[in-house]
Amino acid sequence: MKQSNHIHIFMCVNKKPEDHPGKSCGRQNSEQHVELLKNKIQHIPNLEVKITKSLCLGKCGKGPAAIIYPEGQYIKMENKHDIEKLVSYLEGKNDINDIII
Ligand code: FES
Repeated sequence: MKQSNHIHIFMCVNKKPEDHPGKSCGRQNSEQHVELLKNKIQHIPNLEVKITKSLCLGKCGKGPAAIIYPEGQYIKMENKHDIEKLVSYLEGKNDINDIII
């Protein structure tokens, strides 16, 4: 369950060069996921959420990746389902175990 009314989420939007063989969050729609999350959390009362775009969080193959504070947990923001799980968590409805990486 939600433990704090002050949440800070760092979401990786790092884009590795096109010729880089590894995955990077910015090439997996993480910028769009930031905007989607911002829109979805606006309605949550009594909750202060700061979302910061970040460079690589070191979880490139498991992302798009984010880290949420004060929990200090790495989470994946791979698709709309993951974002919905995070929104439900922020609403105090469930845990984030399914999206922890
Ligand atoms: S590019 Fe996002 S965690 Fe490395």
